[in-house]
Amino acid sequence: MNPEELVARTAAYIKEKFTGEGSGHDWWHIYRVWQNALYLARHEPADLLLVQLGALLHDVADWKFHDGDEKAGEVAARNWLESLHTSDEIIAGVCQIINEVTFKGAGVATHATSIEAKVVQDADRLDAIGAIGIARAFAYGGFKNREMYNPEEPPVQHENFAAYQKNTSHTINHFYEKLLLLRDRMQTPTGRKLAEERHGYMQNFLDQFYREWQIADYDGYFTKN
Ligand code: ADP
Ligand code: NI
Repeated sequence: MNPEELVARTAAYIKEKFTGEGSGHDWWHIYRVWQNALYLARHEPADLLLVQLGALLHDVADWKFHDGDEKAGEVAARNWLESLHTSDEIIAGVCQIINEVTFKGAGVATHATSIEAKVVQDADRLDAIGAIGIARAFAYGGFKNREMYNPEEPPVQHENFAAYQKNTSHTINHFYEKLLLLRDRMQTPTGRKLAEERHGYMQNFLDQFYREWQIADYDGYFTKN
């Protein structure tokens, strides 16, 4: 199968599988990561077929939705690509991207080892921050029945993946446990530049959120404004 057809067939498969998903991991997340990855790859010596297949398949069977099974994504991607008679070399490249993309906790280093994995990881992380990142975090929190915020529960910097996976804290904590850490962990120059603006937007959101939270006298607030 030629590369264009392989990408098109994979996109169609993922679109059908993910449309309507309600946790912020729907088809449009995958689509944005795909497009972000193509954008980032313009300035990197990355293989465009691996980047696109990696982006399209990066969440195909995420641990978050498969009882914590870290290998589920690789297995599902391999099955799909084998069904299209893809070469072993391409399958290995895509599986390596999928394995390296996931965030595993504040205290866990997740360095991508190939330029393709760096591009897909940055593309995925860009979609976790900024306005879209905020929307996705609360969508995910609601999907998991989490509280939006609980000032009595401070954030935790998880030292290993198991502790991060077990965490069931409120969504505001997720900003300190992951989202605000991503800017400094971007791995491509273009990714870093784009992350800067999105990071600032999240900080403004949090400032405003705390300001509103602390208003004790609502009557006074509404008559003043
Ligand atoms: P990763 O592969 O790094 O886990 P994903 O693209 O699968 O990234 O999606 C992770 C996104 O899911 C986060 O950026 C966030 O929007 C959401 N998410 C994951 N865990 C939580 C959480 N505990 N609270 C809120 N949102 C979360
Ligand atoms: Ni993702």
